[in-house]
Amino acid sequence: MCGIIGFVGREEAAPVLLDGLERMEYRGYDSAGIAVRSETKGLQVRKCKGRLKVLAERTCGGRDLKGTLGIGHTRWATHGEPNDLNAHPHVSENGRIALVHNGIIENYLELKEHLIRQGVQFTSETDSEVVAQLLEFHYRECGNMLEAVGRVLRRIEGSYALGIICADYPNALIAARKDSPLIIGCGETGNFVASDATAIIRYTRDVIYMEDGQIAVLTADSVDLFDDEMLPLEARHSTVDWDVSAAEKGGYAHFMFKEIMEQPEAVAKTVSPRIREGRVVLDDVHFTAEYARGISRIFLIACGSSYHVGQVSKYNWERLLRRPVQVELASEFRYSDPLVDEKSLVVVISQSGETLDTMAAMREAKRRGARTLAVVNVVGSSIAREADDVLYTWAGPEIAVATTKAYSTQLVLMDLIGLYLAELLGTVTGEEYDAIVSAVLSLPEQMRRILEHVQDVQYFASHYFHHDSVFFIGRNLDYAMGLEGSLKLKEISYIHSEAYASGELKHGTISLIEPGTLVVALSTYGALFDKAMSNVVEVKARGAEVLAVTTGRFSEKMEKTADAVLVVPETHPVLQPSLGVVPLQLFAYYVALQRGCDIDKPRNLAKSVTVE
Ligand code: G6P
Repeated sequence: MCGIIGFVGREEAAPVLLDGLERMEYRGYDSAGIAVRSETKGLQVRKCKGRLKVLAERTCGGRDLKGTLGIGHTRWATHGEPNDLNAHPHVSENGRIALVHNGIIENYLELKEHLIRQGVQFTSETDSEVVAQLLEFHYRECGNMLEAVGRVLRRIEGSYALGIICADYPNALIAARKDSPLIIGCGETGNFVASDATAIIRYTRDVIYMEDGQIAVLTADSVDLFDDEMLPLEARHSTVDWDVSAAEKGGYAHFMFKEIMEQPEAVAKTVSPRIREGRVVLDDVHFTAEYARGISRIFLIACGSSYHVGQVSKYNWERLLRRPVQVELASEFRYSDPLVDEKSLVVVISQSGETLDTMAAMREAKRRGARTLAVVNVVGSSIAREADDVLYTWAGPEIAVATTKAYSTQLVLMDLIGLYLAELLGTVTGEEYDAIVSAVLSLPEQMRRILEHVQDVQYFASHYFHHDSVFFIGRNLDYAMGLEGSLKLKEISYIHSEAYASGELKHGTISLIEPGTLVVALSTYGALFDKAMSNVVEVKARGAEVLAVTTGRFSEKMEKTADAVLVVPETHPVLQPSLGVVPLQLFAYYVALQRGCDIDKPRNLAKSVTVE
C-alpha cells in the first residue's frame, strides 16, 4: 500500500527512482511522483495522477531531472482523492523539504489546524503533507534537520515509512519507520531506502531491515542508524537471496499467469526441506508434545486470501488435531476483546508479512499471553520478526495483486503444520500420517498436470466471461476453496461473485438463481459428493448454468447434470483444495483477460495493505 523509494549516490537519481517505483507499482498505482535535488534549482518535484508510465513520459524517463539525491512514491489513496495535488512527494510551503510517506498519520487534522493557525498554507488534502509542513516548522525552530525529524516523530501518531530530503542537505537522505515497512539497501553506486526489496534488487542484495522507531541518515557512502532518542545503533545487514528474474515477467503476458504456472515449483520448495525420511520436520519451531497438549484453543488469523487459507485449515486441523480451531479476520479480531490467553496458539498467515490488521491482531494476541506462530512469505518482514515463531512459505516474490502461488504455498505449509501438531498430540494414525505425507510430495506433479491443460479452462472462460454475477457453491473444504475462487474472480474481473456453503442455498440465496445464472459447483470433496450433486440438481432445476469442478472418480456422474465439468486429479482429501483451486485461479485469469481488465493491477486494490 503505497511504495516509497529514495536514493543518494554517484549516479542520476531520477531513472533509479522510476525503475524502483515500476517494480513496486503493485503496492499502489493511482498516482506517482518523484523529487530530486538539483545543484542549481533546489528541489524539483514532478507528480501526477495515473499510472507510473504517465510520470515517466512527463519526465522523459527521469532525464529531465538532474541530481543524485531523490525520493519517489507510488500511491494508493487514503486521504484525498487521487489527483496531482494529493500525489507525493509533498513539499513544505517554501519548497525546502520534500517527503514521501506510506502509512496514516492519525492526528493529522489536529496538527494541520495548528499549522494553519500559524499561517501555513496547505496544497493537498493528505495527512502526509502535514508531516512536511511540520518538519519545516521545527527545522526553522532548531536549525538542524535531524533534530527536526526527531521532534516531528514525537508529535505524529499513526504509522509511517518516510523518505525525506532537504535542499540544505545536498548529500543526505533521511528515513524513518513505524508500523510501515522500510528497508535500506547498501549499493556500490549509492544507498537506497525502499518499501520492499523488489525495488532495489537490481542494484544491491545487501539490505538492512529497519525496525519500528528507527531513523536512518544515508549519504552516498554511509548509513547511520539511530533509535527514537537519536542514539546511534549498529546496523544488522542481511542478504536478499532471490534472483532478479523472480520479480520479472520472463516472457509471460502477466505476472498473475506466471505465478500460477510457478505453483508446482513453489509448493515443492516449501515442502521438500520439511519432509525428511517420511516425517514432517519444522526446524524453526520448537513445540513439544507437552506444549501441544496444553493448547486449549487455536486461532488462525489473517486477511484476504490468507484468511481463506485459514478457512481450509480449520477443517483440516480440526480433523487432524481434534482441538477447536477458530478462523478470524484480523480486522475483526483485533477489536473483539478476544478470548485469548496463555493456552492459546495463534497462527497468523500473511504473504507480505506487513498487513497492518494482521500485525495488530498478532500484537493483541501476544499482549494477552498467547504464543504466536507466523506463516509468512516475505523474509524479514515485520510480522515475521515479531512473531514468537515463524515458518516461511518459499513462494518467491509475488507481484500480481491477486495472490496465487503464495496462497498455494500457505495452504500446503498449513497442512504440514497441522500434521506436525497432530503427531505431537497423537491424534493422527500412522497410516493417515503416511498417506498425507506421500500425497504432499505428489502435489507438485499433480499441479503440473492441471497446468498442462490450461486451454480447457480458457475455453470455459470464453463461454462464461459475459456473466455479471457468479455463485460458487460447495460443502466443507469445497466451500472454503470456493471462497478463494470467488474472491479471485471478483477482484480481477469485477464480476459480482459470492461463495456459499451449498447447504445454505435454500435459506435465501437460491432466490437469486434464475435462468442463465452461472453457478460454479465445487464437488472435489469425495465424502460429500452426493450432497453436492443434490445441490447442483437444485440449481439446475431453477435454470442455472452449472460449471462443475470435480475429480476423475465423479466426473461421469457430474457430466450427466452439469453443463460443463473441469476435472482435477484426486489426492488425499485434506489436500484436495490445493489442486481444486488451480482451475479457479485460471478461470478468474482468463475471464478477466476476455473482459480486457488490468489483471496484475486491479482497480482500487493494492498488494500490501499497510493501512487499517
Ligand atoms: C491484499 C492482497 C491479497 C492478500 C491480502 C492479505 O488484499 O491483494 O492478495 O490476500 O492483502 O495480505 P497478506 O500479505 O497479509 O497475505
